[in-house]
Amino acid sequence: MRRAVCPGSFDPVTLGHLDIVSRASAIYDEVIVAVGVNVSKSRLFSDVERQDMLREATASYGNIVVDSFDGLIVDFCHERGVQVIVKGLRAISDFDYELQMAQMNHGLAGVETLFMTTNPLYSFLSSSLVKEVATYGGDVGHLVPEGVHKRLTARLAERRAQA
Ligand code: PNS
Repeated sequence: MRRAVCPGSFDPVTLGHLDIVSRASAIYDEVIVAVGVNVSKSRLFSDVERQDMLREATASYGNIVVDSFDGLIVDFCHERGVQVIVKGLRAISDFDYELQMAQMNHGLAGVETLFMTTNPLYSFLSSSLVKEVATYGGDVGHLVPEGVHKRLTARLAERRAQA
């Protein structure tokens, strides 16, 4: 079986992520979307919430499974017997860091990275930008799955009430 891993923070998953994951699912027999649980960034959603949102958003695909990992992505790939990581490239600004990670992951464990160019509709899109715009009241409903939009709106309202 040909399998690939799509790793990320997914805080929260956007339509840009889904574009890459769904296109990977057309190429591989199985795609594991792997949520990094211990990457050093402050999170709006817990790893369980991020996985729930991904499961909801990918439920219609028969060959996408959602999991999480803590530690090196190459160790996760090794445990699952996966040799390929699929990543989206939005712009040249993504390339420097992604190249470093791809070369490190190949050097560490022989894991290959396949870069997929993002659909131009989403080349400006990131989870961070979605959170920032939504925090200040901007409409991001067309940039994330409906379920994510609902959770995002609710979480930001909770945060405002706590402030
Ligand atoms: O969505 P992000 O934040 O761009 O995802 C980055 C992620 C989680 C894919 C990357 O930071 C990662 O693979 N972290 C796991 C730790 C690891 O293996 N680091 C070395 C990479 S060379």
